[in-house]
Amino acid sequence: MSGIQLDTTATGQFIAEHEIAAIEPQVAAAAKLLETRSGPGNAFLGWLDLPVKYDRSEFKRIKTAAKRIRKQSEVLIVIGIGGSYLGAKAALEFCQPTPPLPFRGGRKKHFDVVFAGTNLSAAYHTHILEAIGDRDFSVNVISKSGTTTEPAIAFRLFRQKLEEKYGRQGARERIYATTDRTRGALKTLATQEGYDTFVVPDDVGGRFSVLTAVGLLPLAAAGIDIDALMRGAADGRKQYKGGFSENDCHRYAALRNLLLRKGKNIELLVNYEPRCHYIAEWWKQLYGESEGKDGKGIFPASVDFTSDLHSMGQYIQDGQRTLFETVLEIEQPDTDISLTDTADDLDGLNYLAGKTLDHINKKAAEGTRMAHVDGGVPNMVVRIPEATPYFLGQLFYFFEKACAISGYMLGVNPFDQPGVEAYKKNMFRLLGKK
Ligand code: PA5
Repeated sequence: MSGIQLDTTATGQFIAEHEIAAIEPQVAAAAKLLETRSGPGNAFLGWLDLPVKYDRSEFKRIKTAAKRIRKQSEVLIVIGIGGSYLGAKAALEFCQPTPPLPFRGGRKKHFDVVFAGTNLSAAYHTHILEAIGDRDFSVNVISKSGTTTEPAIAFRLFRQKLEEKYGRQGARERIYATTDRTRGALKTLATQEGYDTFVVPDDVGGRFSVLTAVGLLPLAAAGIDIDALMRGAADGRKQYKGGFSENDCHRYAALRNLLLRKGKNIELLVNYEPRCHYIAEWWKQLYGESEGKDGKGIFPASVDFTSDLHSMGQYIQDGQRTLFETVLEIEQPDTDISLTDTADDLDGLNYLAGKTLDHINKKAAEGTRMAHVDGGVPNMVVRIPEATPYFLGQLFYFFEKACAISGYMLGVNPFDQPGVEAYKKNMFRLLGKK
C-alpha cells in the first residue's frame, strides 16, 4: 500500500499553475534553510533526523519500562501539557480510539492510559483520583522544563496518592519521569528520588517531541507498536527530501502560503473519524505555536465532521470567505457496518441497503467538499491509507516538516514560543509567587 498522499485538485479554481511555479523557489529556499540548519531556531532541529538518529539504548529502556508498567499496573496516569501530552494523546486516540460508550462490565480491550495535568480543573482531577479506586496505577510525569505549573500541580496530587497507597519506596518504583537531561525541578526531584528517568533531547522542542520518550513511553505502555511508528516517520523523512513535484510536504507548505496571500488566513483541519480529533489538537499546537507570531500566521482551527456540519457548516458554507480546509481521510476503515433493507422502509433509507457506513461517510465527505469549494472554500485532502502506527509516523513527520518550511516562508522563527509566557507572568503575580 502506498503512503500518505496529498490531493490538491480542489485548490485548482483558487490557485493557478503559474502561481505555484512562482512560489516553488521560495519553498526550496525555506527547505534549504532547514536542511542546512542555517535558519532561525536552528538549535531546535533535532526532530528532523530523529526517525533515524534516535538514542537506541533509550528506546530499549522505553520498551522495558513499558512492560514493567503493564505488569505493575492497570492504569498509567500520564501527566503533561501542550507538547508534553498532545502527541501521545493524538497517537493513542488514532491507534486505539476510545469507545464512545464505556459500558460498565464491557469487554476490557486496552490497558488504560489517562492524561492529567492538561488543565487546572478541580473537577477533572478529582474525578481521575476517585476513578482510580483500588486499581493499581503508575505515573509518567512529562515536562521538558520541569517547572510548568499544571503538570507540577498534578504530579504533586498523584504522587501523594501513590505514596498513600504504596508507601514512599513503592511510589518511587511506579513513577517514570520524562524531562531535561540535566536541568529543572523535575530532574532534581527524579535524581533525588531515584525515578526511572527518560530524556527530552535539548534540540527538540515540546511540539516536535512526539517521537521522543515524551510520546513513545505512554504509547509503548498502551501496547502501540512504536517500531512501526518510527519506521513510518523514517520513510516520511526520506520521501519528503525529494523535489517539489513529487514532494507533498513541500506542496502543502506552498499551497497554504499561497492561500494565505489570497486572504485565506484560517485553516480548518477537517476529519470524518472521531479517532482523528486529537490529531487536530496536536496539529493546532504545532502550527499555532510555530507560525503565530510577529503579527503573522494562519490561524489553525479544526472541525469534526459530519457532527460539526450541523453546527459550523453554515459558517463554512456562507460566512466570511477567509477559510480553507485540509481534510484528513482514512482510506481503508478497520471496521465497517452494512445497512440492510426493511419491509416498510418508513425511514426512507432502503436506497442505502447493501451500502456500508464507511461508504456513506465518504460520500458525505465528497458532497461536502464540492459544496464548500463551490462556496469559495479551497480544499486539500491528506489521504491516510490506514489508521496504523506506521502511517501515523509518516503523518507526524509530514506535518512537522511542512510546518517548519511554512514558518520559514512566513519569515518567522518556527521553533520559539515567546507569547506563551505572558499569561504565566500574570497568573504567578495573582497567585503571589515569590
Ligand atoms: O511546545 C511547547 O514548547 C509547549 O507547548 C510545551 O510543550 C508545554 O508548555 C509544556 O512544557 P514543559 O514540557 O516544559 O512542561
